[in-house]
Amino acid sequence: MTDLQKSTILIVDDTESDIDLLLETLGAGYDVSVATDGKSALENIAQEIPDLILLDIMMPGMDGYEVCKRLKEKENGRDVPVIFVTVKGEEQDETKGFQLGAVDYISKPFSPPIVKARISTHLKLKKQRDQLKNSISLLQHEAEILKQKADICIEAGGLAHDINNILTMILSPEFFIRDLVPDDLAEWDEIEANLNLIRKNAMLGSKICKGYTNYLRNIEEKAFAQSLPSLLQPLDMYARQYKGELERNIPGGLPLVKCRDYQLKRVFFNLFINACQAIEDQEKQKITICMWHKHGTVLFSIQDNGPGIPQEIMPRIFDECFSTKAEGTGLGLFLVKQIMDPHKGTITVSSSKKGTLFTLSFVACEDE
Ligand SMILES: Nc1ncnc2c1ncn2[C@@H]1O[C@H](COP(=O)(O)OP(=O)(O)OP(=O)(O)O)[C@@H](O)[C@H]1O
Ligand SMILES: [Mg+2]
Repeated sequence: MTDLQKSTILIVDDTESDIDLLLETLGAGYDVSVATDGKSALENIAQEIPDLILLDIMMPGMDGYEVCKRLKEKENGRDVPVIFVTVKGEEQDETKGFQLGAVDYISKPFSPPIVKARISTHLKLKKQRDQLKNSISLLQHEAEILKQKADICIEAGGLAHDINNILTMILSPEFFIRDLVPDDLAEWDEIEANLNLIRKNAMLGSKICKGYTNYLRNIEEKAFAQSLPSLLQPLDMYARQYKGELERNIPGGLPLVKCRDYQLKRVFFNLFINACQAIEDQEKQKITICMWHKHGTVLFSIQDNGPGIPQEIMPRIFDECFSTKAEGTGLGLFLVKQIMDPHKGTITVSSSKKGTLFTLSFVACEDE
């Protein structure tokens, strides 16, 4: 009974002795209110919907049937269990009561323990129905959110599809200028090297877009053994705009790592861009990139001499959409983490006022 103790019950009866008997039967366990006619019962219900109504049929003015009918017409009254308590016990009366939506019928004179047990049962059923209703609306809400997310995914798929089409156009950048530049132009080699950079990055962009559309089409992408240093290539493009010192400590002969190449390229360039942005205001800018291997792992680190990450935001930097930058989306490190997890890689960060160090570790391929 304890979980039903806060249940509210409305007794609607015009006979004082019957009201007293019902109050005595219910005891102190419930929050009970009383209405002595149909009109004040409806007023009472309009103020607060009870969990259960004990409703007399024969009352002066509006009878119990009419009260029940009007209650069931209300949106929020439809689910309130109504038990008719009456001296009328003819079969047709009961049928009418049930047709109007009553859940039970108690004939006077009644046995208090039985009435108590029936009330308790109906309150429990009502509680279960309410819980079920809540669960259903929660599920409907979650289904709605899932649908919205699915719609966004499809929309993003459309974007990836069209961006890929645009990138495909610049996969051969020399096509746009070849006829305009004489073959013997002294700077042609340098121009070609730059066009090559553009081509490689357009290719990477195209691969990222295709990766996403493949994911939407449930096409699983295979991971291949790759040399990690070769995946630093996108940094060359960003390094063109970076004016500070860039130190690379990358030994030859590192073991290969099984991965999706374009995904790890995304990891490296996001960390590099963050490092570049962090040191923008430093007088002497320095970024150090290292790779080494140890005990079956290949490690990568990137260190900058920026102002560091304040301790209080450290737990949030990998969160979706967390950014301290005016123009930041806060998706860079979130993506990095998303990519590292399925690659069974780890990422750690340490930071002080002298700079920030991100270290990644990958499982080395065994046969290398
Ligand atoms: N090298 C770093 N030095 C200092 N703070 C950093 C560094 N890298 C990340 N952060 C902090 O972590 C936050 C989250 O980084 P994240 O790459 O996810 O987003 P962002 O760089 O702000 O935005 P976006 O990557 O979308 O341009 C940054 O806003 C910044 O506060
Ligand atoms: Mg970033």
